Amino acid sequence: MLDLTGKNALVTGIANNRSIAWGIAQQLHAAGANLGVTYLPDERGRMEKKVADLTEPLTPSLFLPCNVQDDEQVQATFEAVKQKWGKLDSLIHCLAFANRDDLTGNFSDTSREGFQTALEISAYSLVKLAQAAKPLMADGGSIVTLTYLGGVRVVPNYNVMGIAKAALEMNVRYLASELGPQKIRVNGVSAGPIRTLASSAVGGILDMIHHVEEVAPLRRTVTQLEVGNTAAFLCSDLSSGITGQIIYVDSGYEIMGM
Ligand SMILES: NC(=O)c1ccc[n+]([C@@H]2O[C@H](COP(=O)([O-])OP(=O)(O)OC[C@H]3O[C@@H](n4cnc5c(N)ncnc54)[C@H](O)[C@@H]3O)[C@@H](O)[C@H]2O)c1
Repeated sequence: MLDLTGKNALVTGIANNRSIAWGIAQQLHAAGANLGVTYLPDERGRMEKKVADLTEPLTPSLFLPCNVQDDEQVQATFEAVKQKWGKLDSLIHCLAFANRDDLTGNFSDTSREGFQTALEISAYSLVKLAQAAKPLMADGGSIVTLTYLGGVRVVPNYNVMGIAKAALEMNVRYLASELGPQKIRVNGVSAGPIRTLASSAVGGILDMIHHVEEVAPLRRTVTQLEVGNTAAFLCSDLSSGITGQIIYVDSGYEIMGM
């Protein structure tokens, strides 16, 4: 049975009730995990309020601002985890960002700044968070990130985010190799297209969703909760032999050639 009782799980990337991280947080909570939630702070405190209201029913015992571009905030987040929990069992990395202009049109027009921003927030952040989580996972742990097929194959308009996801997926393998001896497992979930705040910035996202509905073996897209189920499995002892993998939760779309 999937049981996360007694496990401390830190979830990043909840922005609203469409967020994949929200689906993951709900399934971790349902399996009995003790949750910590981080959010991307903004000047007016809107995100803080929105995410606090949304996650309240899951009774997170930690609720922290964490912009992954801000080293001090990352450090403060993991310091708070150490003080409150002593150890961390699971880390959910469920965030990404690229400038909207870079998610449509010609990939060759990507600016240096746009490339750096996408790679820093969407890929380097996993390294940064794993670095901070490692000392808190002395008894082992599980790190799970979210990726997309556009990091392996060309998907129109995904552009620079595809490069970021390719880097992210290699991060998974290098981190899994290094942290394995410490019993820390690192895996990625490659989700099919889902309408969210982040995906709405990708040109033609609705066409992508309709295409999956027509072509994928299951003839439908996936839900945030289905992605959450796989993330919960990867955080649980049921997946104790799995590390360095990218698991597709995409209604089978990835196997299709046409
Ligand atoms: N929606 C999809 O179709 C889909 C498919 C496959 C993978 N993914 C991946 O799932 C993850 C979550 O995206 P989503 O679709 O749920 O969208 P979302 O907009 O709900 O989540 C993206 C999150 O990233 C956070 N974020 C952005 N910049 C940040 C920063 N500097 N520091 C901290 N947090 C930051 C946002 O606050 C937001 O919570 C992303 O990695 C995305 O690439 C999404």
